[in-house]
Amino acid sequence: MSGIFLPARFAGVRGNAVLLAQSFVAQRLYDGCLAVDATAGNGGDTLFLAGQVGGAGKVYAFDTQPAALETTAIRLKEAGLLERAVLIAAGHETMDVHLPGPADVFLFNLGYLPGGDHAVSTRPDTTVTALQIALKLLKPGGRIALVVYTGHAGAGLESNAVLKLAGNLAPHVFGVLQLRFANRPEHAPYLILIERAITGNEEFTLQKNR
Ligand SMILES: C[S@@+](CC[C@H](N)C(=O)[O-])C[C@H]1O[C@@H](n2cnc3c(N)ncnc32)[C@H](O)[C@@H]1O
Repeated sequence: MSGIFLPARFAGVRGNAVLLAQSFVAQRLYDGCLAVDATAGNGGDTLFLAGQVGGAGKVYAFDTQPAALETTAIRLKEAGLLERAVLIAAGHETMDVHLPGPADVFLFNLGYLPGGDHAVSTRPDTTVTALQIALKLLKPGGRIALVVYTGHAGAGLESNAVLKLAGNLAPHVFGVLQLRFANRPEHAPYLILIERAITGNEEFTLQKNR
């Protein structure tokens, strides 16, 4: 495990919710782990995860837009990390069909592709389905980070749907945090951070496998 959560930069123009999301999941990444980028977009998060999963690990990255995956592939190739990633041109609501098994972390950076068509955005129904899949496939001790936007058309509905699902998770199984900037506009992106609890037996198995 590596990474420290709170010291991730969150002040000033370069500080943002995405960095905090990456930092939160980074604590559960190790050489050989399985990480999922549910929304590859321009590849920033996939690249971050690929840098953390080690040579024995894999990042499965999903996006419905082929152009997004092309950009992601170029960035991974430039960094020499392409072989650590499996890029899948499909919606994250089908993740269970593509993933080889339970994953250590899932990262959801919702909304639309920066610099792309704003009409092609994540949607409440498919995002909820994908989050339900992620919760089922999350390893004990694993983490899910969602960067949630509320400023564009439809985003409020998506935000409410995700909050409803996350807010009703059983507290003895999942810890759920909602993290908002108190000194930014109401529509600034915010975070939903989820961790699955570990039982005593699971702790033993996890240590053995790492
Ligand atoms: C905010 S961007 C992601 C940013 C990205 N993680 C990065 O680092 O650049 C959101 C992405 O979600 C994608 N998307 C929309 N619906 C999706 C779905 N059902 N499954 C997977 N990706 C989807 C969009 O095409 C867009 O590229």
